[in-house]
Amino acid sequence: MSNPVTTVVDADGIATLTMDLPGKTMNTLGAELTTALATAVDDAAADPAVKGLILTSGKPAFVAGADLKEMDSGSGSRPRTTEELLDGLLSLSRQLRRLETCGKPVACAINGTALGGGLEIALACHYRVVADDPAILLGLPESNVGLLPGGGGTQRLPRLIGIAAALPLLLQGTAMNPSAALKAGVVHAVVPAERLLAEAKRWLLEEGDPVAPWDKKGFTVPGGAGALVPDVRNLLSVSNMRTRANTFGNHPAPAAISAAVYEGTQLPFDTALRLEGKYFYTLFTSPVSKALIRTMFVSKQKADKLAARPAGVEKARYPKIGILGAGTMGAGLALTAAKAGIEVVLLDRDLPSAEHGKAYAGSRLAREVAKGRRTQDKADATLARIHPTTDYADLGDVPLVVEAVFEDRAVKKDVIARADAVLPADAVFASNTSAIPITSLAAFSRRPELFIGAHFFSPVERMALVEIIRGEQTSDATLARTLDLAKALRKTPIVVNDSPGFFTSRFIGSFLTASLTMVNEGVNPNLVENGARMVGMPMGALTISDSVGLDLTVHASRSHGHGGDLGIVGTLVDAGRHGRKNGKGFYDYHDDGTKSLWPGLSDALPTRADQPSIDEVKARILYAQLAEGARAFAEGVLPDVIDGDLGATLGVGFPAHLGGPFVAIDTIGPARFVAECDRLAAAHGEQYALPPLVRDMAAAGQTFYGSNAVVSPGI
Ligand code: NAI
Repeated sequence: MSNPVTTVVDADGIATLTMDLPGKTMNTLGAELTTALATAVDDAAADPAVKGLILTSGKPAFVAGADLKEMDSGSGSRPRTTEELLDGLLSLSRQLRRLETCGKPVACAINGTALGGGLEIALACHYRVVADDPAILLGLPESNVGLLPGGGGTQRLPRLIGIAAALPLLLQGTAMNPSAALKAGVVHAVVPAERLLAEAKRWLLEEGDPVAPWDKKGFTVPGGAGALVPDVRNLLSVSNMRTRANTFGNHPAPAAISAAVYEGTQLPFDTALRLEGKYFYTLFTSPVSKALIRTMFVSKQKADKLAARPAGVEKARYPKIGILGAGTMGAGLALTAAKAGIEVVLLDRDLPSAEHGKAYAGSRLAREVAKGRRTQDKADATLARIHPTTDYADLGDVPLVVEAVFEDRAVKKDVIARADAVLPADAVFASNTSAIPITSLAAFSRRPELFIGAHFFSPVERMALVEIIRGEQTSDATLARTLDLAKALRKTPIVVNDSPGFFTSRFIGSFLTASLTMVNEGVNPNLVENGARMVGMPMGALTISDSVGLDLTVHASRSHGHGGDLGIVGTLVDAGRHGRKNGKGFYDYHDDGTKSLWPGLSDALPTRADQPSIDEVKARILYAQLAEGARAFAEGVLPDVIDGDLGATLGVGFPAHLGGPFVAIDTIGPARFVAECDRLAAAHGEQYALPPLVRDMAAAGQTFYGSNAVVSPGI
């Protein structure tokens, strides 16, 4: 097998080390690449003919970071123990330190995207030049999966650009394009791709300093380090507070990253690297990083690769699609499709409405231009792909339409019939309904086998998920072609079977109902809202209900069959309080953009004297959702628990740090889960009732993810 790192030494004594993992499309930092790199660096450093080293990649991307799949228990190429994995990961840190101190100057020629460990390699080089391509991303996204950059990233980045600039990049995992990286001081130069190696060589021959700034005598961290500088201390505590407030301490990564930076910058560099390793270990062994890696990486990648796509169907191409209804969803979809290079026929019942949808897309694109994320030319070309119309004849050559008209059966029936009359014989009809069963809508079509649900989330251009719903008669080919659309739109698809509320709407319904039931019982509304935030929900149920509209909440919750008493919502609607839209709901919405709980609420619904503990409130909110997930799985709505975990986390705000309801049940342990649901069901009723399937699983000691379950008694 060929070597993953090849070395070529030129007549000027410059050794170019090219990383190129054989048989892979990307360079990922597994043991194979790390070991080969270490050997190549040692050899070049020991070769008296070599004056300097260039590190580059033979793939389109530079290095994509660690192979997270290797870290997911059981789904890697072979099961590995935590110790083995950790040793591999920390050996990167040691080897990069050797590279940095090899005695010869090392220039990194970053030819493509460098994320995570990829950027950490670059940071360990003495000079960084990157190709001038705005599609290239540089970043340390480890915190997104509950980790920290363990290859020296938490130590080199603050020493390079200062703590204040480094912390947001480390805490939020934001990726930068080359010009932003240059401005931030993360790279030294940006040059056209064809001059990349020449520039690296120029630096080596003309400047070639083999000592990193932090290894020089008298080095200080730009902007000051740690305890010696009051404003840095202040900044760290603010960033700590902010991340804690956002996550209520559910994510251990932000605190560990802040601590690694704060403590590490006060220590000698080699000691600081060992400290980083210690914090990495605590994160790596926490259930949070395991859950995040499982769902946000392994499962998401599986869904993005269309694992559920029926075989044998030719890949569908979408030069053009139709969208019916140019409201909130239709306009967002049109923008998303146009950005993906797809021509869009955007149809509404009158031209001003259709044009209004296009204008929305225009305003979003203008914002991107203003922020420098898109050129005016590109924005113009994107907007020109959207063709507002009222004429169904314009749909005569589209291979697929998405329907996003009012959530009203009669209106949908009408547009389905009109579209049927003009669409090509094999065109797919996808409905974006939130909750109307797909099979019942397919009955309005002459071609129910071509009818399917494609439930996008608002705002479409930002939300990653699309829930694809198979009706009873939906064909395999229709499913495959709709999955191809999801991919073309760069969305993560889940596939579910038809049922009222599908998966995501009924799942979020369980959260709303559990919360509203408590409020109706006289539990302090603030306790209920805070309990949700502490579980990790992005918003409390009263806030969500207000923004959806209280009138609609009553309607939706009843139609999803939740038994909870919605009494107070009815009272509020009767009092003219319809939610955010009229500035009055559970909250009063003030002109300055703030909100406060409506003072009249305590008269309308007195809180009871004996309030439950916050832990009990949290349990009711969390377990109602877990039980709903378990029921949806037992009923066959979810063919695979992966779809449930992705749907809940990417679609409706279930806390990502729990990995989704099924990862969470596995982590809690099914037996403990059943016992807790039984306790809650005895006190609070059927919301916590479990299907026999889950009881059987628990009795047999099984988990949803089988031997790959994330198990921890901690949460
Ligand atoms: P909307 O009220 O913002 O837009 C609906 C659009 O359909 C309007 O522009 C209206 O003029 C147009 N329309 C109505 N009757 C029509 C007809 N006969 N022919 C052509 N156009 C017609 O509604 P929104 O929020 O965009 O929702 C659309 C669909 O998407 C609904 O089924 C809704 O349940 C679903 N949905 C909505 C989500 C949201 O957050 N807004 C999320 C997911 C799904």
